[in-house]
Amino acid sequence: MLLLSLVVVYLSVVVVHVQAVDLFAPEWVIPNNELPYPSMTAMVGDTLTFRWTEGVHDVHIHPSHTCDDTEGSIEIASTDDNPTTYTFVEADGSPDGTVHTFVCQVGTHCQRGMYMNVTVFSSDATSPGDEPPTTETEAPTDTTTTTTTTIPPTGPANVTCYVCGNEDDIPVLGDTVVELPSSDGDFLSLSCQQVYDDGLVGRIPQGDICDFVSLVIQAQCGCAPAGFTCSVCGTNFQVTNPDVEVTLPSDPDTIYTCAELEAAGDVGALSPGQCIEAESIIQSDCGCAPIGGFAACSICGDGRESFRPEAEITLDDDATTTTSTTCGDVQDLGFNGTFSPARCVELQLAASAACSCAPVGYTCNICGDGESVTSPETNITVSIFPEVVNCGAMETAGLDGTITPTECAAIGSVAAVACGCAPNDFTCSICGDGMVPTDRNATFIPGEVLTCGEAQELAESGALSPNKCGLYQPLALLRCGCDDDDDDDSSTTISDPPADGGSPPPAVGGDTPSESPVGSGGAETPIQPPSGTRLDDQMSSLSTVILLSLASLSSMWVLVV
Ligand SMILES: *[C@@H]1O[C@H](CO)[C@@H](O)[C@H](O)[C@H]1NC(C)=O
Ligand SMILES: *[C@@H]1O[C@H](CO)[C@@H](O)[C@H](O)[C@H]1NC(C)=O
Ligand SMILES: *[C@@H]1O[C@H](CO)[C@@H](O)[C@H](O)[C@H]1NC(C)=O
Ligand SMILES: *[C@@H]1O[C@H](CO)[C@@H](O)[C@H](O)[C@H]1NC(C)=O
Ligand SMILES: *[C@@H]1O[C@H](CO)[C@@H](O)[C@H](O)[C@H]1NC(C)=O
Repeated sequence: MLLLSLVVVYLSVVVVHVQAVDLFAPEWVIPNNELPYPSMTAMVGDTLTFRWTEGVHDVHIHPSHTCDDTEGSIEIASTDDNPTTYTFVEADGSPDGTVHTFVCQVGTHCQRGMYMNVTVFSSDATSPGDEPPTTETEAPTDTTTTTTTTIPPTGPANVTCYVCGNEDDIPVLGDTVVELPSSDGDFLSLSCQQVYDDGLVGRIPQGDICDFVSLVIQAQCGCAPAGFTCSVCGTNFQVTNPDVEVTLPSDPDTIYTCAELEAAGDVGALSPGQCIEAESIIQSDCGCAPIGGFAACSICGDGRESFRPEAEITLDDDATTTTSTTCGDVQDLGFNGTFSPARCVELQLAASAACSCAPVGYTCNICGDGESVTSPETNITVSIFPEVVNCGAMETAGLDGTITPTECAAIGSVAAVACGCAPNDFTCSICGDGMVPTDRNATFIPGEVLTCGEAQELAESGALSPNKCGLYQPLALLRCGCDDDDDDDSSTTISDPPADGGSPPPAVGGDTPSESPVGSGGAETPIQPPSGTRLDDQMSSLSTVILLSLASLSSMWVLVV
């Protein structure tokens, strides 16, 4: 209620400007910007008050409208007459407005901004025949001026109300019409420029009314310093989709193309508030890019590239649409400088899942650095592949650079044991570390022409994987007379299993314990491998037998002890 009635007071001043009103000049001092005060308008009968709170000043009317030419100068106030009021009389005004220039004559105060034009209109009641004084020839006479030293008794001075909040800001959208409440509960429509001008000439009283009107104006008129421009895309950036149409949330009726919006900012047609709106819209819908393109973006990260350029990648263009393209295409666009740094980060996230990123020139050694496959013929099953894969083929493919890091890790976890991964220079002894077979002519594998000595040569030449070598050791201990490498002590080592290689993998081979012909001495194990099977297969089935033999031996040993 209070605000409404206050606004009504203002509107009665602005809209029903028939009665004489009290006008207040801006604080009559040297303005900070040292530019002439904004012009005011007044009606005949209005009273204009000048006052100052610092410095030594006076008030004169200069019919010359200049600071220097004091001819015909009329003193309104001496340096002692503070404040001073001047009431405009009929002779001061005209239907088209007569300009009176008020200045301070002290020192160079006039040149430094203490200069204000007031355009005075004759009142509506003035008869058409009235001749307004011409400012060239007919300055106001002494009879039309009154000076007074009376200080207004109460209340704040009615000085300029800067509806944009301060001296420097002006409404960017001068033609925009704002609605202000009127006494009959209706709204009155006034242009931003009109309201701003009313505030300048003191027609909007200070205090609550000025505050309320300022709120409305600042919200709707886009207040900004004179000359404010807005580089919507940013300096040295430009829109990449000039023809896309957009609107600003605060002004949904105006449709801009991206190019128009950019231009509007450049020429100062956007307020600071609109500029902020425009910046976020133009980034999302119009796409801003540096005039020379962005820095290259590697979607896989620096020094990395997609291992699967043909793989599909799905990109979120915005909240609702997605497109599918290939990793290779996105990678090319990235290297060409198409993507902003922020977009690049998004794409890197998407690519890390979809594009099998790997260091440039990446190769995979499925056994790991310095190791290689010793059972290239073995087939293995790896969870990420639907088909059986071959150890040797995988090793070759990896070194050829066609296995991704993810695949490499999955293969490697299986390959280490199944493919017999071993250091490139791995050798072993079938008897275990530090031991050699003494009975080199003994038959090692029944049915195969392989002696303990030949098996040991294979082992020492590096042809056996650690795994297979481990499998051989129990058999060698039984058959080959294993003994210390450089020691002739004949103590048996059967009950003293080697420190390593003594734990062959479980469940190799298919024999069940009940079928196993376990001999009490182990020396005459009657195993007849199917003819034509490979050594590995024999070893697989043998190993179960050997395990059982050892178990029975150790239980015997336990019994003996
Ligand atoms: C003041 O009015 C005079 C006469 O119309 C004009 O020549 C002068 O430029 C005006 N000065 C300002 C600062 O508006
Ligand atoms: C300010 O202006 C209002 C409206 O014109 C008037 O009612 C009020 O008395 C003025 N205040 C002073 C201190 O002159
Ligand atoms: C991106 O680079 C590739 C290869 O360098 C080129 O063929 C393509 O035309 C470029 N695209 C753009 C949009 O510059
Ligand atoms: C491994 O798989 C291939 C193809 O599936 C097959 O030809 C080959 O005989 C298999 N090798 C072994 C040792 O099972
Ligand atoms: C092992 O066999 C080789 C050749 O067959 C023979 O020369 C050698 O004497 C044999 N050694 C033993 C210990 O029987």
